[in-house]
Amino acid sequence: MTKRHLITTALPYANGPLHIGHLAGVYIPADIYCRYLRAKGEEVLFIGGSDEHGVPITITARRENTTPQAVVDRYHEMIKKSFEELGITFDIYSRTTNAVHHETASDFFTKLYQTGKLIEKTSEQYYDEEAGEFLADRYITGTCPQCGNENAYGDQCEACGTSLNATDLINPKSVLSGNVPVLKATNHWYLPLDQYENWLKEWILEGHKEDWKINVYGQCKSWIEQGLQPRAVTRDLNWGVKVPLAEAEGKVLYVWFDAPIGYISATKEWCAQNGQHYEKWWKDEETRLLHFIGKDNIVFHCIIFPVMLKAEGTFILPENVPANEFLNLENRKISTSKNYAVWLHEYLEDFKDKQDVLRYTLTTIAPETKDADFTWTDFQAKNNNELLAIFGNFVNRTVVLIHKYYEGIIPEMGELTEDEKNIIAKIAEFPNHIGASIEKFRFREALAEFMNLARLGNKYLTDTEPWKVVKTDPERVKTILHLSIQICACLSVLGEPFLPFTSEKLQKILNINVHDWNQGGNIDLLKAGQKINPPEYLFEKIEDVAIEMQINKLKL
Ligand code: MF3
Ligand code: ZN
Repeated sequence: MTKRHLITTALPYANGPLHIGHLAGVYIPADIYCRYLRAKGEEVLFIGGSDEHGVPITITARRENTTPQAVVDRYHEMIKKSFEELGITFDIYSRTTNAVHHETASDFFTKLYQTGKLIEKTSEQYYDEEAGEFLADRYITGTCPQCGNENAYGDQCEACGTSLNATDLINPKSVLSGNVPVLKATNHWYLPLDQYENWLKEWILEGHKEDWKINVYGQCKSWIEQGLQPRAVTRDLNWGVKVPLAEAEGKVLYVWFDAPIGYISATKEWCAQNGQHYEKWWKDEETRLLHFIGKDNIVFHCIIFPVMLKAEGTFILPENVPANEFLNLENRKISTSKNYAVWLHEYLEDFKDKQDVLRYTLTTIAPETKDADFTWTDFQAKNNNELLAIFGNFVNRTVVLIHKYYEGIIPEMGELTEDEKNIIAKIAEFPNHIGASIEKFRFREALAEFMNLARLGNKYLTDTEPWKVVKTDPERVKTILHLSIQICACLSVLGEPFLPFTSEKLQKILNINVHDWNQGGNIDLLKAGQKINPPEYLFEKIEDVAIEMQINKLKL
């Protein structure tokens, strides 16, 4: 890899707190990817931010008797804090209510409008006569014509993922009053997706058959083959980016038009703060653009946003869109509205300093190719039987013995056995192996490979039994512990993308500061004679009571 990397993550709606599903599907994989690239010395810009427009936010404000701005202010801060505490290393976490975003989105629309890329149409839209308002998107619910789900929204059915127009719904109902809405004429601007069908076939179906994940490719294929319709990019609403046309009073840009432009606005904001030009990131073919998202966002990131970019004409397109499937919780669908979730801000309170345990568990079960399930007992087992029993135990035994026998001074390495020579050769391969999996977006596999290195270390120590050998052959023990502590150093380098807090703690114990990925297979990161710090536990046992408490919480 030599290009620069622009990595974006779906902008979460600032309409509620984040839960483990968000983290597992989008933000942890993206963070691992970015940390890895940085450790490889690559140039990376990692973009996040809150999606602060759209109907769900105005619905919340109405329900809570407050303003949309107050709603997004509250959740933006909360979400931003959770990301920080979990070690998600965004270069910028922006928000779409920013002035720079309004200007960027508005200019984008104007450019499309002025170059004749939009079509203007008058159509009949649902209107709630009692409330005196048009019913955009989630203000209307009804039965999905594709799958029969009775709670589909005016813009999308969450059960089958189909993107809808409100008039597609069977038995439409107003969310405002519960009434059956009437149809009323209104004017809107549309992006003629149908005109881009051939281009999409070429770009995705032919161009990305090999490199896009099959779940992503498959969804795109079925949409394109169903035939695409023009999609309205404006709405009759008073919350959002105002449509920059005199005749569009009372209209805003559709949230799914403005939100992905948020990636561009956030880049501009970061560039202004860092003395760079955003064009370098968005208008130069030397940039690789990647969108990390959940599966419900595939159509927007693979079809609609690329068509917007293509129509605008001066931007690069995504090279890949590594979308994940969904995470369930104790075999049930996570539901924000039913408050059935593990909320990140609550996890962070209940499990202080255990960010890496969550990062670890969620990566081992990441819904990369199909939906996955989080259970609290699995979380406990992964902590107690893997992190603690393998990784933690190996490091702890090594550090304790070096203190016990050599007062914390790393001993010299003596003559190596054939076994040890093989082990060293194997260790050297780990950076490439783990890296290859990460580059293919196989984070589960990458983490499993990392744990194999911890396993290898743990087994080496168990097999060589330095605590026994010390009585008969103390010289030999020096070699064993020298090699063991070098493996600990490799673990601290290669573990950083997955378990950043643990890596930092481990490097403090080892008195090193190494962030170069390629050094992660080098058994020369420490020198004999260097002093290490006293042992500290990397992980602690999670007791049954803590787990029972969490399970009970879900039953309330
Ligand atoms: N807010 C959307 C969601 O949570 C994601 C927006 S992604 C963006 O599903 F590209 F539009 F920003
Ligand atoms: Zn459906």
